Amino acid sequence: MAGRYPEAWLAQLRERADIVQTVSAYVPLKKNGQNYWGLCPFHNEKTPSFSVSPEKQMYYCFGCKAGGSVIQFVMEMEHLTFGEAVARLADQLHIPLPEMERDPFYQERRAQRDRLLEANRTAAQFFHQQLFEPQGAAVLEYFKSRGVSDAMITRFGLGAAPDRWDVLTQTLKEKGFSEEELRLAGLTLVHEAEAPTRDAPGKPRRVFDMFRNRAMFPIIDQYGNVLGFGGRMLGSGQPKYLNTSDTPVFNKRQGVYAANLLRRERGLERVILVEGYMDVIALTQFGVRGVCATLGTALTQEQARLLKRFAPKIFLAYDGDGAGQKAILRGLDILEAEGIPARVLDFPDGLDPDEFIRRDGPEAFEKLPSLSPITYRIRRTEEAYDLSTDDGKIEFLRACAEQMKRLDPVEMEATLKYLTRRTGFSQETLVQQIGVPAPAAAARTTRRVTAPVRREPLPEGQRLDRVRAQEIMISLLASGQMLKDVVSQEDFDDPLLKNLYARLAEGESPAALVESQDNEADRARTARLVFATFGKDRGEQLRMAEECLQSMRRIRIEEELDTIKSQVNLLEGEEKKQAIERVMALTLQLARMK
Ligand code: UTP
Ligand code: MN
Repeated sequence: MAGRYPEAWLAQLRERADIVQTVSAYVPLKKNGQNYWGLCPFHNEKTPSFSVSPEKQMYYCFGCKAGGSVIQFVMEMEHLTFGEAVARLADQLHIPLPEMERDPFYQERRAQRDRLLEANRTAAQFFHQQLFEPQGAAVLEYFKSRGVSDAMITRFGLGAAPDRWDVLTQTLKEKGFSEEELRLAGLTLVHEAEAPTRDAPGKPRRVFDMFRNRAMFPIIDQYGNVLGFGGRMLGSGQPKYLNTSDTPVFNKRQGVYAANLLRRERGLERVILVEGYMDVIALTQFGVRGVCATLGTALTQEQARLLKRFAPKIFLAYDGDGAGQKAILRGLDILEAEGIPARVLDFPDGLDPDEFIRRDGPEAFEKLPSLSPITYRIRRTEEAYDLSTDDGKIEFLRACAEQMKRLDPVEMEATLKYLTRRTGFSQETLVQQIGVPAPAAAARTTRRVTAPVRREPLPEGQRLDRVRAQEIMISLLASGQMLKDVVSQEDFDDPLLKNLYARLAEGESPAALVESQDNEADRARTARLVFATFGKDRGEQLRMAEECLQSMRRIRIEEELDTIKSQVNLLEGEEKKQAIERVMALTLQLARMK
């Protein structure tokens, strides 16, 4: 995760970003003792349990256990990846990124990128203004005819590309953009031919606007950058939508439409993914939150990962037509592969979300049943078979069996019930004849996993004490309440704690330790441990931990002694001599401890 950046560079970034200052921009903080306190932005609370330590450069919420460095705070608040949060902080603080220093072309590319984004932003403003000029009247009329409100026109920055050859290109050139920049941004088409072209018959013309006589939808990313445009024809014709093709700033496999609005949402329960620009706008206009669209392509892995940051679940709300249904099945596969919980909204009468919400209203939209992936898949499968014949039923069930392999017991039960109802076969028949996995088997497996294992009470208790003792050592070390020489790496047998100790001993900061944990559970545990301090209790805690460590050390020596003693008779010569010396040394150590 943090691997791309040298630790020293990150340390400098964290220090300069100053966690108290960065957090204060989002959460009012009050100093109390060593730390600052405020209401946790990650869960609902009335009394502050969210704490920021300037000394450790970390935040930690004692309520919801969220914790981390300033970089992680920005990731969480702004729904960014680690790299994006780093880039954002570095940009704000005017610290050059390490790759800039390594890559001689980085600055150049970065500068070009900024220029293209600037050109796009200027174009978006131009298109938007045109809506309110005579040459944009037809487009404004089009938006009105489709029921788009003024508020949505502003919110989505909608615009009009006039019915002219090169008015945008000329306007942007006057503002200082070069033809090459406009071509790279996908705003201008350049024809090398001096002769008349098909696009410009009769008149030799070298450059003209990419978007002409279209209703314009700027595609804006989560930082507010205008990446490109979709442009719709006013009437019918082909292509209905013209989209910016991939450019140095735009990759349609990675972005989603309306990411800028998603970013501002807090506490979204689900992201609703639709197919079209107009669907996003209509649903938003009717008050649905968290809607976005892919950009004229099927859902990609990159997009799924982006959306995962905004909400724990994704609802697919594609068109009710054949293409939409195919796209749902593919989308479900992608989401499943990424481990993202998904549901499907199935629209009646082949409507798309825009048409549906305008016809039936927002209440009907909220009431639409959402289907689990398996239910949706089985419904689609069912359409391919003739259930009026036994052969058809059996073929259908065979196809379902394949899809049912990964179901949890609850889904399995429900699906079997449904299949029984649809085919008239009993559950036993389904299981025996068709090879549908038995729900009982699935249930039994789960039960085995969750059943309490018979514990041997004493060793388990000791193990917990041991781990706790190691944890206390880590907390004391991280807060500078204990010197690192009191313990050694061998004192830790929990892999995470062993690693934390080694890094603390090398002088790494608590914030760096938390940041480098890729796994959520390890990260939460590390945050809790390195944030903990023991005020008055320190002496007592230390004493308990030391006692526990002493007994761990004793056990370790005894174990080693046992091993050597059992092998010593098999050894000869020099090896035997060394083993005996080791036995003597260990015995001596043991005697000193007692
Ligand atoms: P649809 O054809 O379903 O259009 O394409 P729509 O969104 O319902 O549009 P309206 O309501 O007729 O205006 C869905 C999406 O697929 C992409 C666009 O992103 C569109 O929003 N698309 C469609 C294209 O990129 N090019 C096309 O020619 C058509
Ligand atoms: Mn539509």
